[in-house]
Amino acid sequence: MKSWKLRNIRAAAVLLLLPAALTGCQRQQIPSEQRIHIGVTYYNRNDTYLNELLEHFKQDVKQKEKNAVHIAVTVTDAGGSQKTQDDQVKELIDAGCNVLCVNLVDRSAPSEIIDMAREKGISVIFFNREPVAEDLLQQDGLYYVGADAKESGVMQGELAADWIRENSWIDRNRDGKIQYVVLEGEPGHQDAIIRTENAVETIRNEGIELEKLSYQMANWNRAQAQNRMEQMISQYQNGIELVLANNDDMALGAMDAYKKRNYTESALPVFFGIDGTKEGLQAVMDSRMAGTVYNDKEGQAEAMARLAVALVSGEGMDEIEFEKEKYIYLPYKKVTKENAASLYQENKYDE
Ligand code: BGC
Ligand code: CA
Repeated sequence: MKSWKLRNIRAAAVLLLLPAALTGCQRQQIPSEQRIHIGVTYYNRNDTYLNELLEHFKQDVKQKEKNAVHIAVTVTDAGGSQKTQDDQVKELIDAGCNVLCVNLVDRSAPSEIIDMAREKGISVIFFNREPVAEDLLQQDGLYYVGADAKESGVMQGELAADWIRENSWIDRNRDGKIQYVVLEGEPGHQDAIIRTENAVETIRNEGIELEKLSYQMANWNRAQAQNRMEQMISQYQNGIELVLANNDDMALGAMDAYKKRNYTESALPVFFGIDGTKEGLQAVMDSRMAGTVYNDKEGQAEAMARLAVALVSGEGMDEIEFEKEKYIYLPYKKVTKENAASLYQENKYDE
């Protein structure tokens, strides 16, 4: 059935090309058109940060279309399953994609995808969920676009230390220590543990005494974070002074938990996130969240779009700067009430 269909499509394509071929000899040679078909697969369509990043990516790609260069993008959601993602990559290749952007479900399991890409001679740009170096270095045509997890943790720690120094009343029980809890992203994700460790270490290095009450995993997810936070509030009541979340969605979930319990503003802990998503920036602008760290989604999206187009067209590769020939890391940026509104505007969320 499939091959019958294919044959017919081919026959139709030949028919369509025929008039051009017949008249071609009278015209000047027109440079052949280029088709870039980018296949994207990402780990889960419920992820706020990645949805925002991919919106930017689609816009960037559109802007790169020129007269003779047609670009199509197909985005698929792996629904949290590596097996599904491997199948999707096969389908994307079968559908004619000539470059892939892959946000791995399981960042330790890219080998099927790498094998398929090698067989077909297609380049792969991994993004946001970083494969281990041995996997990336094993063949040509594999790249990574993302950011350095440690940098975001250090910045979150610096933001928190500055804020605590200026607002010493947050030590509500006046024991000279800040009682804190952490909401952590998915286990195994490069951004989870590294962010936590560096944030906590940085606050300590700045001379602030901390006391850890609890760590809870909430998989980057707002509803899960709300749930975990409700449990922690039941356990520690007013004892929590600081909430460090590995991303904005979980910081927002923690705030949801306090809101549900009708906590008055004066009894709330101070919250810090990472990402600078639409709602994250809004929360900083409204002083509900003390600070966040901007995870440069525009920069990452633009780097992916440029690289994808350059890899297929063969043009512009020289202008792209890589680390270790394969990596592009975009810098993080601290966000406080002072710059949140301008970042919000740059994102054009209101348009
Ligand atoms: C972001 C999270 C996101 C995760 C997905 C992280 O870099 O900070 O918000 O959920 O990537 O992989
Ligand atoms: Ca205290």
